[in-house]
Amino acid sequence: MALILDALVGILNEPTIGGMVAELAVLAALLWVAVLVGMFVGWVWRPRWAVDLAGGMGTPVLSNSDSLNDSAADESCESCEKEEKSETLAVTIEDLDHLCKLVEVRDGGPEWRQMMDKSLPNMSYQACRRDAESGPPQYRSRTVLEDATPEMVRDFFWDDEWRMKSKWDDMLLYHTTLEECPTTGTMVVHWIRKFPFFCSDREYIIGRRIWESGRTYYCVTKGVPYTSLPKQDKPRRVDLYYSSWCIRAVESKRGDGQLTACEVLLFHHEDMGIPWEIAKLGVKQGMWGMVKKIEPGFRAYQIARRSGDHISRCAFMAQINTKINPDYLRSLEDNSTSSEIVEPEKVKHWGNNVPRFLIIGGAVALACTLDRGLLTKTIIFGAARRFGMLGRRL
Ligand SMILES: *[C@@H]1O[C@H](CO)[C@@H](O)[C@H](O)[C@H]1NC(C)=O
Ligand SMILES: *[C@@H]1O[C@H](CO)[C@@H](O)[C@H](O)[C@H]1NC(C)=O
Ligand SMILES: *[C@@H]1O[C@H](CO)[C@@H](O)[C@H](O)[C@H]1NC(C)=O
Repeated sequence: MALILDALVGILNEPTIGGMVAELAVLAALLWVAVLVGMFVGWVWRPRWAVDLAGGMGTPVLSNSDSLNDSAADESCESCEKEEKSETLAVTIEDLDHLCKLVEVRDGGPEWRQMMDKSLPNMSYQACRRDAESGPPQYRSRTVLEDATPEMVRDFFWDDEWRMKSKWDDMLLYHTTLEECPTTGTMVVHWIRKFPFFCSDREYIIGRRIWESGRTYYCVTKGVPYTSLPKQDKPRRVDLYYSSWCIRAVESKRGDGQLTACEVLLFHHEDMGIPWEIAKLGVKQGMWGMVKKIEPGFRAYQIARRSGDHISRCAFMAQINTKINPDYLRSLEDNSTSSEIVEPEKVKHWGNNVPRFLIIGGAVALACTLDRGLLTKTIIFGAARRFGMLGRRL
């Protein structure tokens, strides 16, 4: 960074246009190098949602969710239903319906393509991506943790304090709860997350809520409008944010037929305010680095909870769930999942992406650093795109 600062100071002291152009070129080159070094040293962008991982392709799921109607909801939750009708809650039954459709792979979107399949001794992880017709790329991942109960996993992903304390999610810089509904467990939280590429940090206002059916948990989190906390230049607000997961017990891969493992099926997309192609590349490079940290974070959480440590407010809230009547949940026939083929993405050698990544990464770094408004960004990205043609498709 010192080198880059020196270069900037050099530019400011340079009286001639020609000299300035030369200096800018040096600066750009330095930024590109910085980006590359950052990648190799592991200063890699680890997106939050890669962390939140979740669940199972074509598994038994909620059916009939279209017609989940109010009388369908569990009697014990009359007060929640009333609140829903008055639309005071940040997350409503429509959000549950949507998540159920995603879980069932019948939301009508494009097909998912597998991009990653990794295993650790006590954890496995698969991720797919698809490009929506409009909007940012969407991700779906399935994580299976051995020796884990759905309840513990539910609390773990909800526990913002633990995210920061145990550093398993080291991109989270700040969190606070803005609202809480004591009957439904619905929360509105404010997060600030670290962001790579010399860009400013990002802030999120997230509404979240958990539904429960038997021991299956549907956890919805999404960006919500919140006027009492005005937007600022920095950190930049991410409005379009969706991250939801379904948690349930599954058979252990040890083959003993015991439901001692826990599956998390996660759906995530967000508009981070950088070009989607670049976001995809960053995600691809950073995903596993982030996901790997879940297991140690989770095992430490299990130990802390078993030892009877004080549970955080967030974990307490995670235990307030809205019940859905299991009568409305029905396993879907496999035929409904076959409509969307999940095929592995072609494995590309990372070397092929280097020149293109260098150019685009440099452009992002420049655009974020010299944040002089849309024009600058348009020019820089335009140039980068042209040069980027050297490489193949991302
Ligand atoms: C809700 O379900 C009940 C009983 O199954 C049915 O009589 C009613 O018409 C349904 N309402 C809606 C809006 O679908
Ligand atoms: C995986 O779990 C088994 C059973 O709990 C344990 O014995 C083993 O040490 C774990 N492996 C790792 C790498 O944590
Ligand atoms: C799946 O098959 C069952 C019976 O074979 C049928 O009733 C159902 O409509 C099918 N579901 C879809 C989504 O095609």
